[in-house]
Order: sequence, then structure tokens, then C-alpha cells
Amino acid sequence: MTIQKTLSIIKPDAMKLKYSGKIIDFIEDKGFSVIAQKKIVLTKSQAEAFYSVHKERPFFYELVDFMISGPILVQIIEAKDAVSFYREIMGSTNPEEAEEGTIRKLYGTNIQCNAVHGSDSIENANIEASFFFSKLEMII
Ligand code: CMP
Repeated sequence: MTIQKTLSIIKPDAMKLKYSGKIIDFIEDKGFSVIAQKKIVLTKSQAEAFYSVHKERPFFYELVDFMISGPILVQIIEAKDAVSFYREIMGSTNPEEAEEGTIRKLYGTNIQCNAVHGSDSIENANIEASFFFSKLEMII
């Protein structure tokens, strides 16, 4: 068990439905601390860069359009084994397949509008945190 940080995004669908407060409560109730947080609207090129790993996927352009469709809340959150633990409490990518009691089951709409993003590895957590936050902003 090691204390780690991971990058969380509350996506435009959950922001529009006013679920951000509920999702933050959920995350904190599970033991996470919010280290840094900002509400932003991504530009098209920023969204394309963030999701560049998916650029060959058929849903890439739809995903980019969705991610720039409104404000998002980007957070660095910290807990024991944060990367894997956050992915566990987010649930499966598709809310219809997500386990009961997970964020995506509770607050997701469909496979694209699935409420939250969480980094999939420690390496990507560092890359994604640096994408959104300066070194100064990452210090508590
Ligand atoms: P996320 O965890 O942010 O990583 C990539 C995102 O692409 C994913 O959540 C969904 O929002 C979206 N996504 C994944 N698979 C599909 C799909 N089959 N169709 C549309 N969007 C998808």
C-alpha cells in the first residue's frame, strides 16, 4: 500500500447534470483527498492532445466534441493505491456494465458520457496531472 496521486476529470455530462458536488463527496467519503482542482473548458486541440492515445479509435472525434461541450472539473486526488482504487470506484467504462454503487453506475449516462475519467497507470497519472497543473499548483 503506497500513497499515490491520480488525475480525475468530472466530465461535461456530470457537470451539466450538477453531479460534481455528489461525486466529490463520494470520492472524499472513500478516503481520497483533493490536492488540486480547477474548472476549465478544453479547447479542441487540448482535448485532441489529452486523448491522443485514442486517435485511431472510431469514437475519437465524437469524444473530443463531447469533452469540449462544456466545463469539466479536473482534480488531482490522493489516497492509498489511488490509481487502481479510483478505477475500482469509478466502475466500468460503460455505465450499463458498471458495478452497483460505482460512480459511473450512479452518475453516468452512456459509454461516452460516463461522468468521470481516471488515469489508468501511475505513469499516466503523472503525465495527465502535468498536462493540467503546474508544479506549483500540485503542491499542497
Ligand atoms: P475515459 O476513461 O475518459 O477514456 C476514454 C473515453 O472514451 C472513455 O472514458 C469514454 O468517455 C470514451 N469511450 C470509450 N469507449 C467508447 C465507445 N465505444 N464509444 C464512445 N465513447 C467511448
